[in-house]
Amino acid sequence: MRSHLPAAALLAAVMLPVAAVAAEATARLPALSAEDSRRVGALMARMSVDEKVGQLNQVAGADATGPVSPAKAEDLAAAVRSGRIGSMLNIRGAAATRQYQQWAMRSRLKIPLLFALDVIHGYQTVFPVPLGETASWDLGLIEQSARIAAIEASASGIHWTFAPMVDVARDPRWGRVMEGAGEDPWLGAAVARARVLGFQKRRLGDTDAVMATAKHFAGYGAALAGRDYNTVDMSLQQLHDVYLPPFKAAADAGVASFMNAFNTLNGVPATGSRYLQTTLLRRQWGYDGIVVSDWGSVGEMITHGFARDAAHAAPLALNAGNDIDMESHVYDKALAAAVRSGAVATPTLDAAVRRVLEMKARLGLFKDPYRFSDERRERQALSNPAHRLVALEAARKSAVLLKNHERLLPIPPRVRHIAVIGPLARARRDLEGGWLVNSSPQHVVTIAEAIKARAPAGTQVTVLDGCDVDCASDAGFAAAEAAALQADLVVLAVGEGWDMTGEDRSRADIGLPGRQNELVQRVARAGKPVAAVVLGGRPLILNTVAEHAGAILLAWLPGSEGGNAIGDLLFGHVNPSAKLPITFPRSVGQIPISYAHYMTGRPAGAVRAPYRSQYIDSPNTPLYAFGHGLSYTTFEYTAPALSAAAIKADGKATLRFTLTNSGAVYGEEVVQLYVHDEVASLARPVRLLRGFRKVGLQPGASAQVEFTIDRATLSFIDASLASVVEPGSFRLMVGAASDDLRLEARLEVLP
Ligand code: GLC
Repeated sequence: MRSHLPAAALLAAVMLPVAAVAAEATARLPALSAEDSRRVGALMARMSVDEKVGQLNQVAGADATGPVSPAKAEDLAAAVRSGRIGSMLNIRGAAATRQYQQWAMRSRLKIPLLFALDVIHGYQTVFPVPLGETASWDLGLIEQSARIAAIEASASGIHWTFAPMVDVARDPRWGRVMEGAGEDPWLGAAVARARVLGFQKRRLGDTDAVMATAKHFAGYGAALAGRDYNTVDMSLQQLHDVYLPPFKAAADAGVASFMNAFNTLNGVPATGSRYLQTTLLRRQWGYDGIVVSDWGSVGEMITHGFARDAAHAAPLALNAGNDIDMESHVYDKALAAAVRSGAVATPTLDAAVRRVLEMKARLGLFKDPYRFSDERRERQALSNPAHRLVALEAARKSAVLLKNHERLLPIPPRVRHIAVIGPLARARRDLEGGWLVNSSPQHVVTIAEAIKARAPAGTQVTVLDGCDVDCASDAGFAAAEAAALQADLVVLAVGEGWDMTGEDRSRADIGLPGRQNELVQRVARAGKPVAAVVLGGRPLILNTVAEHAGAILLAWLPGSEGGNAIGDLLFGHVNPSAKLPITFPRSVGQIPISYAHYMTGRPAGAVRAPYRSQYIDSPNTPLYAFGHGLSYTTFEYTAPALSAAAIKADGKATLRFTLTNSGAVYGEEVVQLYVHDEVASLARPVRLLRGFRKVGLQPGASAQVEFTIDRATLSFIDASLASVVEPGSFRLMVGAASDDLRLEARLEVLP
């Protein structure tokens, strides 16, 4: 197997100047300069109530990313010129943003607009969907991809991205699981910080940095039954212990804005939740950035039955802590009257307006409203080939090798005829995934093209779809089976199309779409070795694939360079190194399912016994566990050493061990630290991720890996919502997956 340039060498060739992610980075929003502070104060003093309300009104431009189509362009121009709009979304491009900014400069007070866009996993260069990119567990790479997205988007006039989505999600029926960082708060918090720092750099104000948004605040990932926009009901202890840590990490990283959520949390719409937006965010966390509603959610409080009408919804939202109203027009219609009636106190209105004006000042827009709208810079940024190289590296590092029976992969040179079969074999747009804003699918290399380009000279490569991605018909199955019969090896390309996950894409059945499982069975009937490449933005039920394919490479929705990355991985030019950030269940019936489950009073054992917490028709274990991912090499974990057998609650210990690449090729291993607090004031999960490292090693090489065990590792949120470290015994476990633990040590925390 050709050993490929280690990832680090390639990245070094293209890495953009990104400071290393300082583990303790707790950048807050940069302080306002004295000049800007004076400017904002003077402006506030001149503003009418209507002009203040205008700053809190956010309106969509060209594309609707919500249920109501946006106003017409001429109405928007008039509204901008009259100062009734403070920010816009879905306007992109240096020319278009410049035009709207020119209209804003014709308003009485010449307050510049903010331009926002959902730059979720790239602007023009498309990276793997966020759930897939999280599978790399490579925080530097994750920050790098957000950095490139910001460079491209800001060059196109964008000031503000509605990303990262940091919702912890444990129900893969929910389509938006694709947009986040999976099921775990510790991993989710680390990724949230990396993405915020990537988008914003260490400070806002540079023209290649954009405001980031921590969304959707909060609990949206726990939507009942995995159905989008549905109710969320949970204890505050669960909210704080599981769902809030990534939001707190984003706030500590200095995220410029929070977006609230469509769902009710324990009966209160997040947009109208004073607990979330004021008590928690502003008072307890001391957050001083902007809070924006989600599309129409201010008005949807009426639909929820929480507000009578717009006149009631406007003060409910603003008084709860929602600064900007995205696209419901409730503030535009009813907020000024609410101020005049006293339903909203002027200081409350002023505090929200001040946060918006201060953000515009931080971006330098009062000095030069057009500084982000530079067509020459746009052309340069959008044609930088280095960006695609990083996208290729991200796709390579995100694909998870789920299975590799008898080392079927990488494809050996003896294979002289490959049949590439499946509805995604020739897909381009599907590889990019949803939430695209400016990409060019025509430049995406397909899986089939990538295989043809990498197969040794003289290898025959046959390509058939078998069916389309919906796979309603079996008309192409016979030809697929026949092609498999002629080949030495089959590469199956199956899974979801780009529009089967994301917002408003919940699925009650998360198997392969349509009759794709039947296609898998028919192709397998030919009796040739099958390597499956699975595409999708969520965990899928892969039992049939696992039964018939000797190898499974989960490529997610891998972005602009996904085809090339899959080709590199299939032929071993790159060694897979990704690990699952979310559990893959055996059936929908197991959902919600997580590695961080509880012992219960009657845990099921390895051998079935009566009266245990179990199913009569399924194991409790998932098909593939959180943290699972194979490599073309092997790793040994040896010589664990704990620096102390006991510590005080505020003490520290170090857990060291040796990792060795015991195989024949370079590989990167994500070593994971799990902790179990064996006896506590609340029953604790059987294991919780509390540390990870991605370690690259040449064959035969070893490295000393070290984890610090401290309050962050051992604490949890107790019934009184306090973060506590309780005395007692803790199991420390290190391994290659949540179900593949290699080393264990025990630590006593003393009273
Ligand atoms: C959508 C999404 C949100 C997005 C916003 C603007 O409905 O819920 O994540 O940022 O509207 O497009």
